[in-house]
Formats: sequence, structure tokens, C-alpha cells
Amino acid sequence: MDSLDLFAQPHPDQARLQALRELLHRYAQQYYVLDAPTVPDAEYDRLFQELQALERMHPGWIAPGSPTQRVGGKPLEQFVAVRHAVPMLSIRTETDTEASGALNFDNRIRKELALTESDSPVEYVAEPKFDGLAMSLRYEHGVLVQAATRGDGETGEDVTQNIRTIGQVPLQIEAASAGAAAHFPAVPAVLEVRGEVYMRRDDFEALNERQRQRIAAGEKGEKTFVNPRNAAAGAVRQLDPAIAAQRPLSFFAYGLGEITPPELGGPAFVTHYAMLQTLKFWGFPVSALVDIACGAPELIAYHQRIGSLRDQLGFDIDGVVYKVNSLALQRQLGFVTREPRWAVAHKYPAQEELTTVLGIDVQVGRTGKLTPVAKLAPVFVGGVTVTNATLHNEDEARRKDVRVGDTVVVRRAGDVIPEVVSVIADKRQPDATVFTMPRMCPVCGSAAVREEGEADYRCTGGLFCSAQRKQAILHFAQRRAVEVEGLGEKLVDQLVEAGIVQTLPDLYRLGLMALAALDRMADKSAHNLMSALQASKQTTLPRFLFGLGIRHVGEATAKALARHFGNLDAIMQASTEQLTSVADVGPIVALSIRTFFDQPHNREVVEQLRACGVVWEEGDALAPEATRPLAGKTFVLTGTLPTLSRDQARDLLEAAGAKVAGSVSKKTDYLVAGAEAGSKLEKALALGVAVIDEAGLQSLLTDDASMPLAQHNSQSPQGVAIDPDTTHREA
Ligand code: IVH
Repeated sequence: MDSLDLFAQPHPDQARLQALRELLHRYAQQYYVLDAPTVPDAEYDRLFQELQALERMHPGWIAPGSPTQRVGGKPLEQFVAVRHAVPMLSIRTETDTEASGALNFDNRIRKELALTESDSPVEYVAEPKFDGLAMSLRYEHGVLVQAATRGDGETGEDVTQNIRTIGQVPLQIEAASAGAAAHFPAVPAVLEVRGEVYMRRDDFEALNERQRQRIAAGEKGEKTFVNPRNAAAGAVRQLDPAIAAQRPLSFFAYGLGEITPPELGGPAFVTHYAMLQTLKFWGFPVSALVDIACGAPELIAYHQRIGSLRDQLGFDIDGVVYKVNSLALQRQLGFVTREPRWAVAHKYPAQEELTTVLGIDVQVGRTGKLTPVAKLAPVFVGGVTVTNATLHNEDEARRKDVRVGDTVVVRRAGDVIPEVVSVIADKRQPDATVFTMPRMCPVCGSAAVREEGEADYRCTGGLFCSAQRKQAILHFAQRRAVEVEGLGEKLVDQLVEAGIVQTLPDLYRLGLMALAALDRMADKSAHNLMSALQASKQTTLPRFLFGLGIRHVGEATAKALARHFGNLDAIMQASTEQLTSVADVGPIVALSIRTFFDQPHNREVVEQLRACGVVWEEGDALAPEATRPLAGKTFVLTGTLPTLSRDQARDLLEAAGAKVAGSVSKKTDYLVAGAEAGSKLEKALALGVAVIDEAGLQSLLTDDASMPLAQHNSQSPQGVAIDPDTTHREA
């Protein structure tokens, strides 16, 4: 009854069904591909349900391209082999550091094409190398008919059911906007789109969080995933599409497989770039980071630019790919064995490597916190040699179940401290024993306790514990506190171990004689340290307060306290209620401050430091937050400013009530950019954050803070031209 009769009047439901499918296609495209939804999710869901209801009434009308058909099929017994009409090649990889990868490639191309120095540079397309799995999507007459993995390049596996669940993959190709249709070719009868299936980092984190909850709830057979690539690979190779649908995957298109040739009415692309633009127009996600680069210098610049953005992207990349842009030149260059001559991958240093755990140490921090640290066989990862990785605390160490002798995956991404990601279970020695936190401080032997609701064990030895004493001294002497230049870890170790320095004031009682008597301490160094100690006495209230090492009182809190109370005595006498009236000071912090100053020995330390000549300017309480000119504004500093140091700029901004943050986000009001500003500047421009230079900063500080944002908007101080379009969305 529901089969379509071409001669009958269209059924009224059929028109509605068609309209719904088109609407849902458009909304899904806006949501998944353009990242710019125009209707709320609830509206989409409502239309979707209406379509589902119609299709239930007329099962004969269900078409494979319908938005309802993303999750459908039954679990498979196994995947069916697919022979690729056009083989899926791999690319040659240049792992050389820095410039040589791009230079080698460009030289080879120029040689192959017999270009001389007088010829102009070769035009390339540079793309991120997405860290996922290669996929070939086959469309016939605009409808997705098959998705296949790369396999050995000749034969892959049919994973259509799973790929259909990816919102970004069109089930049916519908051009993005009718208006532009004149500029793009029509969709050919046969079209194979090649690209990468991957998992976004946020989707990966959320998936692992769900997995952890499942494991905690006792569900059998569940596990967490090591990294987004593994999670994506697992999802693609799921036999049950319902499970695959719960693993959020994404897709980027970067090439073509079989396509109807121009003689038979297919498109005649001239460049790789134009082909990608067409794919984008047809509704496929193409990375906004794809760019044209002429000659080796621009390839090198691209490699560096993407490298500096790497950690801020929403997904993992392991390098960049350079491709000759002209398709005629690509044909001329051809292939060597299984690799095209016209493309190369230029990698970045791996962020994950395997190594073995030599031991697990427990370190004692300034506040007595015990931290288990895995001692590793040295491994080069993320651009540095790593020998230690924190295991954070007992729960973390147990969750990962790291044992001495284990082979582990170590990750170091960007400036983030190295961490043990996971243990390779089948490489474990049978006699490896479970790690347990010691119940005694490994340094002073005092009891170590874990208080309820806390993740950490703490040594109860206080300043009796030499580890805590050392850390307290190092904390006080650091650059951001009173700054005693040259007083580093080795020296503090010696001073404490020799019993010369027990408390902070002891530092200022040091004599040249005692210093010169220490191991390896030359006269000159002793003199230098004496003058550094002398210089450190002239400090500021926030630095001094921070230097005391009160638990929960970081730099920002110290500044807020100093600003609010104006002088140390007022802080020392303040009640917890008075303390909590300071912005950013909550009950826990207030209690910690109060407890600290209630201890007679802490008050004694403060008095003795003052007696030794440590001074700062004191005043009355400053103007309340809200009345200061830049109150409520968030700034980020980057690059080298012409006259102000970073610290000076920060101090000025904070005194004016502004907050200074470390990274650019949508919440940033201004980016203050100096010379050689890098990724932060790009990100600010991409997000439309106002960018100002030092002069702009000075004028905000001195006069009209009411100056409209727009006046500063998107001014790049050194005239660095950056196309915001190339970085948006993924950053
Ligand atoms: S082009 C003929 N472009 O890297 C060239 N590949 O060995 C075919 N990949 O398995 C590949 N990002 O999965 C190309 N922008 C990109 C890529 C990319 C990631 C992967 C792809 C392939 C491997 C190359």
C-alpha cells in the first residue's frame, strides 16, 4: 500500500516527509559540518520524531539517505571485504625535525619537474595530518552506499553501518547553498570521498568518563580508551552499530578515490585546493586549517604555525601533509611503489611513547603532600627526554595500577607535565607487586595521613620534616615570592642538611663564613648569595604573603588579600568572616589563613623576618574591586612588549582591578600582544578578542577605561596578517 505509484497524486504525507528530510539535512549540516546551528536542539529533535513517526506509518518510503537511517542495522558476524576501485595509498613520511622535511620534499619535487632556480616556487596545499583512520566513502548518485577502511590499501572492510552514525558524514549529498551552485560542479554519479575518521578530544574525554562510570557500576567487558585514535579505531570496528553510535566520531575529507571521469560528465578539477572547496560545498567537513603554501619557506612556516596550535586544537594531529596543488603536476609526478611522489607527511615529535617503570618514589611537598612519582627509563617524548612522571595520588596510582617493572605509555603534550597514560597489561612481570602509599613519611618517618574527603596523604611532621622545610625555603626564595637569586634546590639541600638553616629567618642570619664552608661553594658564589639575600629584603606585601606558603594562598589570592587589607597586621588579625569578604577567598581559604596565623610559631617567623630587615610598603586598604577602572576585565599577555616586562604589565593590570589569565578564550576581553606573539595572537584573532599593544594598554590604564572595545578590535600590533578563517572553530 505504501509503495510509490508514479502516476498517482503525491500523498500529502509524502510532501511533508520530503520537506522534513530536507530540513533535517540542512540543520544537521549546519550543526555538524558548519558548526553553526540555526535551530535549538529541541526543534531538531521534534522534527526528527515527526519524520520517524511518518516513516513508521509508511515503511515503504524509507530511503537509505533519510536522516533516521543513521543507526539501523543489526550486529554483524564479521566485516565484509571491499576491494578499492582506486587503491588507498599511504604517504612518505619525513620525521626530520624542523625545516629539513619541507626542504627535502620541495627539492625532490623541483628536481622531478626539472625546475631551475629561475622558475617560480611550486604551489602546495598544506593540511594537518589528522590522527585517526583513513576511510573511503562511496556515493552513487549522491547517496552514501559504502564506507570502507583502508585495510592493506587494495582491500579494506565494509564498515558502512558504523560510518552512517557519524553526523558529519552526509548520507545524501545536498549542496550547502543554492546561490553558490553556479561556481561548483554537480555531484557526479560515482564519487569516492577519502578522509580521516577521528574522535575529538572533548568527545574522547566524555566517552572515557562514561566508560569509567560503567566500570564503577560493575558493567562487564567495559574499558577506558588510551587515546582518541584508539577509541575511534575501536568504534569503527564495532560489529554492533548501536554501540558504534554511542562513540562520537568526526570526519575530515582530504581527497578522492574513484570518481566519474569528465568524459562521462564528472567534474574536471584543476587543483587539489579547488577539489577540497567543492567537497566542502557538497557538505563534507574540510579542515579550516588547510592552506596554500608556495615553496619551501611557506611550508616551513605552516609546519611551525600548526605545530604551535597543536595543543589547542580540538583533535589530535601527528604532523602536517604537503601536496602539490596542481592536479596536472600530480599526474606528471606519479607514484613510487605505494606512495605518491606529489605528497609527503611532515611529522611532529610523538607525544606518546613506551618505556619501563624503574621504580615508584614518594616525594614530599611543601605542605607535606606525598606524591607518588614513577621513575622511568629515559624516553624521548613530546620533544624532551622524560625520566619522571607524576602519578598524582593514591587513587590515581591505583586506577592506573602502575607497578615497578611495567611497560607503560607515557604522554607529554605541549608544556603539560608528563604523565603515565596506561600500562601494557600483557607485558607485566608475574611477580610485579601492587603499589601502596606508605603510611609513614619517607623523609622524616612521621605518620602520613589521608583525611576524609582528601585525595592526598600528608606527612604530619610539619617543619620537623626536612623535606617540608626545604620546600618551604625554596618556595619563599622563588622568583614569584621574595626572590633570592641563586638559591636553588642543591644549595637548600646542603643548608638544611648541614643544620645551618632551619627556618626562613635563618636565611638572613647566614654569614659568609658559614656559606663558604659549604661544599663546592666558591667565594664569589657566597658573596653573590649574600647580596641576593640582601636584595630580597626589599619586597612587596603580596610577594611576602605568597612566600609564607600558607596552604591555598597562591599568588592571586596573596594579591587580593594585600589589595583588600593594605597591610600585614590587618590580615593577621582578620576574622574568617572578614577574610571571606575578599574576592576569591572562600571559607576553606579563609580558615587556612586564620589557622596559619593562629600558630604562635608562624607569627614568630613573620616577626623575625621583619626583625631581620625584610620590608615592604604598607598602606591602607585599597579602593574596593568594583570601582577600579579595569574591574571585571580579563587580559592575556603575549609576546615581548617594548618597555614593560610581563611581570610589570601584570602588576599594573591587577592594580587596576583586571584579571590576567594565561590563555585566550571567549571570556578574554583583551589580548596585549608584543613582538613575536604566536599562537595566542592567532587564537585571539580567530575568536574576535580585542588585540592591543603596549600603547593601547597604557591608555586603558591611564584614562578612559570606557573606550569602546570595537576601537581595539582585531588590530594586529605588528601588522601580522592572519586570516581568522584558517584557525576558527577547531582551535
Ligand atoms: S593524503 C595519496 N591527507 O595519513 C595520499 N592523508 O599515510 C593519501 N592522513 O593513511 C593520503 N591526514 O589516513 C592525507 N590531510 C591528510 C591526512 C592523511 C591524515 C593519514 C591517512 C593515511 C596516512 C598517510
